[in-house]
Amino acid sequence: MKPVRHQIITDDGSSTLRIEDLKETYHSRHGAVVESKFVYINKGFEYWLEKSPAKICRIMELGYGTGLMAYLTFLSSQNQKVASEYVSLEAFPLSDTEMEGLNYTQFFDKEKSLLSFNDFTILPWEKQHSVSSFFYLTKKEVKFENFVTSSKFDLIFYDAFGAHAQPELWSEECMLKCYNLLNDGGVWVSYCAKGSVRRGLEKAGFEVTRLPGPPGKREMLRAIKL
Ligand SMILES: C[S@@+](CC[C@H](N)C(=O)[O-])C[C@H]1O[C@@H](n2cnc3c(N)ncnc32)[C@H](O)[C@@H]1O
Repeated sequence: MKPVRHQIITDDGSSTLRIEDLKETYHSRHGAVVESKFVYINKGFEYWLEKSPAKICRIMELGYGTGLMAYLTFLSSQNQKVASEYVSLEAFPLSDTEMEGLNYTQFFDKEKSLLSFNDFTILPWEKQHSVSSFFYLTKKEVKFENFVTSSKFDLIFYDAFGAHAQPELWSEECMLKCYNLLNDGGVWVSYCAKGSVRRGLEKAGFEVTRLPGPPGKREMLRAIKL
């Protein structure tokens, strides 16, 4: 049965979706835009750029969801003038109706030359789009568990629902799959701070750091493939 998703407003005024049955939201209730920028842009993308200036960044996201993180990464690539190839996996794409009314556009600088959030949203799946000279996007309808590729990534945004809702996605097996998907020096980042996930990452071979989390969250995890 298809889960029922409702839109809610988070503490920074931006919207997200909530699945009642799973008791899960697509982003933090303390701020969808604030959390996504903090965890994935500041502690993920910008961190990788500091370590590897002047290189193209290949990013894999688990959970395209609303596309908010993909769009934030597009804006950041554009600002930093660093090329990114972004591949986002999604097992259960949202319908047009579910996307309607998400209020993200008002949180972004109005640069007319750039694709708006709404135009970004309607880009077709399963093909690569040159969204700008700095950003290449591929949205793939596939479960992470079934995703097979010969390419490697520099950065993984691991944005599955919480471990109580989807324990299989936080298993040692999935952490090892992430390790194998990354280039040496590659970075895995997530809002999650669970001890079992940290141990799974370490067991896979990552060096793991606990970082202060975004508003409302004490800690988050970042892991490096040495
Ligand atoms: C926390 S939300 C991600 C929010 C998203 N990053 C955004 O910016 O809107 C988790 C997403 O993972 C998707 N998902 C759940 N199981 C999955 C799986 N096995 N493989 C890929 N995606 C999955 C869900 O449908 C949901 O869109």
